[in-house]
Amino acid sequence: MTTPNEVSVLFVCLGNICRSPLAEGVFIHLLEGDGRLLDVRVDSAGTGAWHVGNAPDPRSREVAERNGIRLPSRARQVRSEDFHDFDLIVAMDRSNLHDLASLQRKHGGKARLALMRDFDPEPGDGEVPDPYYGGPSGFDRVFEMVLRSARGLLDELGG
Ligand code: 4NP
Repeated sequence: MTTPNEVSVLFVCLGNICRSPLAEGVFIHLLEGDGRLLDVRVDSAGTGAWHVGNAPDPRSREVAERNGIRLPSRARQVRSEDFHDFDLIVAMDRSNLHDLASLQRKHGGKARLALMRDFDPEPGDGEVPDPYYGGPSGFDRVFEMVLRSARGLLDELGG
């Protein structure tokens, strides 16, 4: 459960093996290096269940490791409690956001829903694109978007 000063953030994509574990790992890494010592609980999940229990995709692990970041998470699916347990649920693309909004209508909960790139200071189409069926360069692009957006989110939470 969330303690009084804690903020909780859940990153969500489709499979929870490419984008959202990367966002989780990058955000934890930024928090660890941040002097403000914010109390943030961080997790990630997928709207789909195909990869439940799996480690992140090797291509996400590779780009993370190249940048000094470990990705410790195992894939899990979004569950009804997430909408009650998390303050903020951050979707990677509009399809994820749409699926989350449908789930929240069904399950209720106070969580604020947002798009990851709402926090990206650089202009774009608002989405972190699904890199799963593409080549390794897609993962580099995703990493850069996720890093910029995670910095923006941290600044928003840190005030
Ligand atoms: P992610 O990428 O949503 O960023 O984890 C995907 C991973 C797996 C699949 C789709 C997207 N899939 O269809 O299995």
